[in-house]
Amino acid sequence: MVTPPSDRFPTSVAGLPAARPTEIVDLADGDEYELRIAPVAKRIGDATVRMLAYNGSIPGPTLRVPEGATVTVHVENEGDLPATVHWHGLRLDNRYDGTPDTQRPVQVGERYTAQVRTPDPGAYWYHPHIREDYGQELGLYGNVLVVPADPDYWPPAHREVLLTLDDVLLEDGRIAPFHRSGPTHSAMGRYGDVLLVAGETDLTLDARPGEVVRLHLTNTANTRVFDVALPGAELKLVGGDSGRVEQERLVDHVIVAPSERVVVDARFGASAELALEHRTPDRVHRLATVRVAGEPAAPGPADAFLEMRINAELAAERRRIEPHLITAPDKVLGFRAEMDDPGGHDHSGQGEHGHDHGGGHDHGGHGMGGDDGIEWDDHMAEANRQTTPANFRWLLVDQATGAANEAIDWQFREGDQVKIRLVNELAGDHPMHHPFHVHGAGRFLVLSRDGVVEPNLAWKDTVLVRTGETVDILLDVSNPGRWMAHCHIAEHHETGMMLGFTVVPARAPAPAPAE
Ligand code: C2O
Ligand code: CU
Repeated sequence: MVTPPSDRFPTSVAGLPAARPTEIVDLADGDEYELRIAPVAKRIGDATVRMLAYNGSIPGPTLRVPEGATVTVHVENEGDLPATVHWHGLRLDNRYDGTPDTQRPVQVGERYTAQVRTPDPGAYWYHPHIREDYGQELGLYGNVLVVPADPDYWPPAHREVLLTLDDVLLEDGRIAPFHRSGPTHSAMGRYGDVLLVAGETDLTLDARPGEVVRLHLTNTANTRVFDVALPGAELKLVGGDSGRVEQERLVDHVIVAPSERVVVDARFGASAELALEHRTPDRVHRLATVRVAGEPAAPGPADAFLEMRINAELAAERRRIEPHLITAPDKVLGFRAEMDDPGGHDHSGQGEHGHDHGGGHDHGGHGMGGDDGIEWDDHMAEANRQTTPANFRWLLVDQATGAANEAIDWQFREGDQVKIRLVNELAGDHPMHHPFHVHGAGRFLVLSRDGVVEPNLAWKDTVLVRTGETVDILLDVSNPGRWMAHCHIAEHHETGMMLGFTVVPARAPAPAPAE
């Protein structure tokens, strides 16, 4: 697989501005903001690589917006390819969803304006929706923090910190090659070999003794799942993708799948140096250092820390969804891989590296990353690299009709409650986990996993479906338009693992019966 120059993206850093620190930008209802996509030179460890940034920083600026606002964002594309900006998790007007289904792609050199609505408190994010395997890996992601109108929405904390969790794959001091013609790593997605937290390889955070710091974690990696711990501090789970959890509770770690958000409050004790960690069954990675030192923080938030609040709105949802626990699902969606005959598909690439034999390519039996149903690392890197949409397909299959991926065209009505069963099939060519994401047509609650009722509800837009797992969700359809749902592993999405659905307004004529 020798790549002709016309199929490569630029990699030279000559003349590029150095990446800047990420800014927090406060926007009020009605404000306008300019977001510019352009290349930067970014230092990653010892390497300086060409990446892409929103307004020159990786992550892009954090937009802090009040609940219930509408802000106007002008996007200018000076990147490498046509772009859209998708506002992940925000229930905004369909035409600003930022996908090629809802708008014409913004060509290089063009501008585009979106009206971004923020109906729900919580941490959201923005990223491209064309070749996100490339754009996201290169640094195109940033947070939107929606500040609740109710000052007691979140428990007391001294301050908030937003941390993106990401990784990047380097090869000989450069970003590992990408092709303009399409993605690679279709099988498992592109795992990086360097972890980036808030865009940094060796982030240091400062905290004071007795301080309570709210951490908004967003997984912006193409495929890696993070398991985050902070030994030496107490962690309280307070929120999920979209706002609060039903019951605050102490936790010793949290799992964050691609595109998910998890909100934890950390209470720090005496002076110490702590490590924010990512733990896999094989090893512990340091994500950041936390230096606890200095004058003790004012006691209020620490005193309230052990009060575990129950969120009345979600407690009411739990009663409301009870009947849906036992009804048959409205839709059943299978997750499945289809690989070309392994004997026939991969000798083309073997000449180049010539060592693909032992690489664990017997996809039936390779290490599944333990029995927790999560692939924590790429255990078949060389074989994975050679998978493309041409030799490997990921499918979402509607069990009722047999339709798959873009052939699925569900019809819903505003106000519908749709129970969807997500079945991550073990029988396919390469069973693994998939974070399933639904665009802003609504938000959903997880009803159960493998028949076990979800113990702590939160409004979700993404759910991790582990290898072999069956997850039931209840989608609260609230927003008309043409939407999509897909696996948020960027390479799986690019390999076709997505479906479309249409929501008609409550007052419109009934939709045609689903196919
Ligand atoms: Cu964050 Cu369609 O995705
Ligand atoms: Cu997937």
